[in-house]
Amino acid sequence: MRRIAVVNMKGGVGKTTTAVHLAAGLARAGLRTLLVDADPQGNVAHVFGIAVGVSLTDLLTGDAEPEAVIVRGVRERLDVIPATPAAFTLETRLAGAPQRETILARRLKSLDGYDAVVIDSSPAMNLLTYNVLLYAHEVVIPVGMDSMAIIGARQTLDGIREIRELWPERPLDILAVLPTAVNVTTIATRAAFDALERDPSLSDRLYRRGVRQCIDVTYALAQRQTVWEYAPKSRAAEDFDALIGFVTGGTARDERTGDAAGEASQAVV
Ligand SMILES: Nc1ncnc2c1ncn2[C@@H]1O[C@H](COP(=O)(O)OP(=O)(O)OP(=O)(O)O)[C@@H](O)[C@H]1O
Ligand SMILES: [Mg+2]
Repeated sequence: MRRIAVVNMKGGVGKTTTAVHLAAGLARAGLRTLLVDADPQGNVAHVFGIAVGVSLTDLLTGDAEPEAVIVRGVRERLDVIPATPAAFTLETRLAGAPQRETILARRLKSLDGYDAVVIDSSPAMNLLTYNVLLYAHEVVIPVGMDSMAIIGARQTLDGIREIRELWPERPLDILAVLPTAVNVTTIATRAAFDALERDPSLSDRLYRRGVRQCIDVTYALAQRQTVWEYAPKSRAAEDFDALIGFVTGGTARDERTGDAAGEASQAVV
C-alpha cells in the first residue's frame, strides 16, 4: 500500500489541491484510495461536500475506530477520512498520550483494502504533521512559485530530516518537489525555479513539469469537483494526469524532467 503525504510548512502552496487530485487521480487510475485530511481547516470535506460526523479527531483520541470515520464512496474507489476544526484541540488533548507522534500510524495499522493512502496536511510542523510523516512512506512537497517558495520548501525538508534522525528506522522518501500554479511567463516563477535548481537537496527531487497555473482549478474546487470533472480538457487536468503517470510509475522515476522548467530556463536566457 502506498502512503503518500502532501506536506509543506508554508500555507497556500497547493497542498490540498494536490492531495485531492493525487487521491482522485489514483482512484481514476484504478487504485482503491483513501484520502486522509490531517489539516484542522477541514478543506477536503469542503471540496467534496462531505457532511462530517465523526472525524480524524475521534480516530486519534480513540473515540472512534477507522471504519467509523471513513466516508465511503466519495468517488468511485475513493474514500475519505475528513477533518474538522476540532482537530485544532488535538495538540492539548494528546499532550499526555504515550508516543503521541505515532498515534495515526498505530490507529491505521490494520487498515485494509486500499492500494494507496494520500494525506493532506496543515501548513505547520505540529503534532498532526509529525503523525502524518510517521505514517507516510513517501512525501510530495508542493511549492508555490513565488519568492518565498524556497523558504517553505527548505523548512519542510528540515522537518523531514528531523524525523529521519529521530526515527531512523522509518522509511520516508521524497517522491517529488512539485511546482504548483506554474506560469513561466512570470519573473516569480522563473526565479522560484532557479532557486529550486540551485539547491541540490531540492533539485534532486524536483518534478520539473509541475502543474501549470490554471483558473479551472479554483473554479473546480469551488464547484466541489476535481478538474477532471469540471474541465477535463484543461491544462490542469492534463498536468495532473501526467503527475499520476509519474506517481504510478508510468513515467520513468528518474526522469523528473518536464516542459515547464525547460521553458522557464529558456525564458531566463
Ligand atoms: N494549478 C493551479 N492554478 C491556479 N490556482 C491554483 C493551482 N493550484 C492551486 N491553486 C489555488 O491556490 C490556492 C491555494 O491552494 P490550496 O488550498 O491547495 O493550498 P494549501 O497549501 O492547501 O493551503 P493551506 O496551507 O491553507 O492548507 C487555492 O485557491 C487554489 O485554488
Ligand atoms: Mg490546504
